[in-house]
Amino acid sequence: VPENTENGNGYDFVVVANRLAVNHVTNEDGTTGWERSPGGLVTALAPLMESSEGAWVGWHGAADDVLEPFDHGDMHLVPVPLSSDDIEDYYEGFSNGTLWPLYHDVIARPDFHRHWFEAYRRVNQRFAEHTAQVAAHKATVWVQDYQLQLVPAMLRDLRPDLTIGFFNHIPFPPPGLFAQLPWRHSVLRGLLGADLIGFQRASDASNFRRAVHNRMGYYVEDELIHVPLQSNAPDHGSPLVGFNADADRGTAVRVSTAPAAGVARLVEAKEFPISIDTATITALAKREDIIARSQEIREELGNPKTVLLGVDRLDYTKGIRHRMKAYEELLQNGSLSVGQVCLVQVASPSREGVESYRLLKEEIEQTVGRISGEYDTLSHPAIRYLHHSYPIEEMVALYMAADVMLVTALRDGMNLVAKEYVAARRGDDGVLVLSEFTGAADQLRQALLINPHDVDELKAAILRATTMDSDDASARMENLRRQVVHHDVRRWATDFLDRLGELTGSPSVKG
Ligand code: G6P
Repeated sequence: VPENTENGNGYDFVVVANRLAVNHVTNEDGTTGWERSPGGLVTALAPLMESSEGAWVGWHGAADDVLEPFDHGDMHLVPVPLSSDDIEDYYEGFSNGTLWPLYHDVIARPDFHRHWFEAYRRVNQRFAEHTAQVAAHKATVWVQDYQLQLVPAMLRDLRPDLTIGFFNHIPFPPPGLFAQLPWRHSVLRGLLGADLIGFQRASDASNFRRAVHNRMGYYVEDELIHVPLQSNAPDHGSPLVGFNADADRGTAVRVSTAPAAGVARLVEAKEFPISIDTATITALAKREDIIARSQEIREELGNPKTVLLGVDRLDYTKGIRHRMKAYEELLQNGSLSVGQVCLVQVASPSREGVESYRLLKEEIEQTVGRISGEYDTLSHPAIRYLHHSYPIEEMVALYMAADVMLVTALRDGMNLVAKEYVAARRGDDGVLVLSEFTGAADQLRQALLINPHDVDELKAAILRATTMDSDDASARMENLRRQVVHHDVRRWATDFLDRLGELTGSPSVKG
């Protein structure tokens, strides 16, 4: 029975994410308060929270700080406390030192530490308990992302009445890589506590289903996974076709090729590509002050013919080094010249407690220093490197100022920057260079798709983008715009929640 709720009966729609939907801010007069987070996820879910009785469970971002639940606008917020040890072992450790690199194709080496996983389990349990306390009877709960993969099963144990969805915002690795994880069975069992598991790409969903089939031995029929109700045992009614070593438990499991009638729960695993709040960005792109700011930015850069732009969290998955290498070689061989062209790289600070991020920062700063020293002139920068985050208004002005957007991620669940750039282009100009290793590449087929590991291909694409004739550029951009206008983040949330409602027969959450 839910307790601790404002209305005594609990909340009908509960979102659970590592981060809460609000940030703590200090006002000019020194007072402090909460401000809604700017990201697309919060923007998409806030209206659903307003129209149903909605709550958001998440960490409020500070260490060793225990806060009571509170209301903000129409949202009820349930802060989950993390100690500094939790932050070190659950957040920086298992989430961002093990899962993040493993799920992004081991671009960096994942570290496996048993005490990190113990912290992950402990913190996931805490999230599940906070959620169980505030969810109404038969509520819909939507758990978000890789930091909370054990929550669905933990929550189902505590509250079998709930409808549970899970969405993985990052890639799900191929079975061969996932198999490295010493706690692979715990993670699969955790996720299979959900009724619907959403992924960014069809290939992520299929990687997950294959891991479940290979590792757990469960029968998989298209997108549906048959989870035996006695879920420690594989489906005994089915023909035995093979054994897999189950390292997580030290036993062998049978791989099923047919369902066992009546004894399985059905779980669907399928792609639901996330998007952006397109309407907000197109509205900002029409604002006079933002248009003026975009012109000012070009002037501040010395009015080059072509502005190239990169916008990323400072993360080794984003291929910032590959992009800079290609740019540097184009300056070196004279294909591009300073004064004609300038590269603006926004790299917002991220996860600085994790060593691989600190090393990356040093490396990028060295490269920027070298390019600047070698190619800047007194009047024109070759590169502008900005290690900051900016409000969305400034980002839209930057997108509008940029002739070419460079998205060169080595692996990325979706990459929303690519979609934001497209949404911010008012005239149908501007060229998007996009890595095929992003989820966005599945939808933005008219971008210049590249393999960022191939420096020569990347260089050729940058040159092609800077010289593309305007008919070609506008035909492509028009096509891309149609994509992001018709598939925005509200549609993503509605598609997921409608499907969850259909699968479980529970009333779907409506905006
Ligand atoms: C990615 C993850 C999110 C995460 C965000 C920022 O987009 O999918 O879950 O919130 O990065 O990272 P941070 O570690 O600062 O929350």
